[in-house]
Amino acid sequence: MRNIIIDCDPGHDDIIAILTAIAHKEEFNILGITTVAGNQTIEKVTNNILKVLDFVGVKYPVSKGYSTPLVKPLDVQPLAHGATGMDGPQIPDAVSKPTGMHAIEFMKKTLMEAEGKITIVCIGPLTNMGIFLKTYPELAEKIECIAIMGGGVYNGNTLPKAEFNIYHDPDAAKIVFDSGVKIIMAGLEVCYSGSILLTETEKFAEGGRISHFVYDLMKFYQGYAIRHGWDRTAIFDAIPFIYLMHPELFKAGEYEVNIETDGKYCRGMTVVDTRGYQGELHNPKTVLLQADREAVVKILFDSMAELDRVYG
Ligand code: BDR
Ligand code: CA
Repeated sequence: MRNIIIDCDPGHDDIIAILTAIAHKEEFNILGITTVAGNQTIEKVTNNILKVLDFVGVKYPVSKGYSTPLVKPLDVQPLAHGATGMDGPQIPDAVSKPTGMHAIEFMKKTLMEAEGKITIVCIGPLTNMGIFLKTYPELAEKIECIAIMGGGVYNGNTLPKAEFNIYHDPDAAKIVFDSGVKIIMAGLEVCYSGSILLTETEKFAEGGRISHFVYDLMKFYQGYAIRHGWDRTAIFDAIPFIYLMHPELFKAGEYEVNIETDGKYCRGMTVVDTRGYQGELHNPKTVLLQADREAVVKILFDSMAELDRVYG
């Protein structure tokens, strides 16, 4: 059993990822959820996760984090996630409230009180994580690893070479990648390789209450893929969770990764050194490269079926 904190900006795929984690209580002990501005404003993404937790019928401490990146202005993603950050499903407003503690203070308290180490799964921009490590560097040793959805080995999505989460706050990402804490990077390529086919999505409609909710999420979320003429869509943020549970489903390698913070065209790029042997690796990251697509999709269906069984 792994103790985890989830740092997120929900976001359709963030929600599906968190539901997948909730469905696997034997794997993940979720100590708390922290939010960060990214896909939408901090108010909207925090509201989205609170609404979903109430809808499912589960309680986790939710702590609000930073409302803007370290240096850049806020640049939300309405094309992918809509005006609310979670357009599509109609569920009641949240009754639950955030803890009132700032995200990085929640991280500090939780890490200080923990007997063992904690894994932090970051599926939004790295603003909270970067500022946390800068503010409380002495607590880095309490972090087992930081599993990140972000970056890409070769390509970007928001920019030709920059993926959204890193693009949104490259300055914070640099602090995290340079911190020396063990990093697992699930970049665009591995996420695309684990995509769900548009035709497969229909299966969610056959399930119970939670599966139907995910179906409604997917109907909006895969509109982006449809508009681009794709036959599948990546549930990006679910990939680091699935890797933590089932590393055998993935190909991965150890690479040096640097974050470009100055480039005119490549600001926000994860520069992955794929050249092969270049001497001793100084600060390698575990970079996920490829996923067993069918196994990933099965885990998503099984997770929602499990939630239907327990909370339906
Ligand atoms: C990432 O950007 C966001 O839109 C998603 O939630 C995911 O975390 C993919 O580039
Ligand atoms: Ca996200």
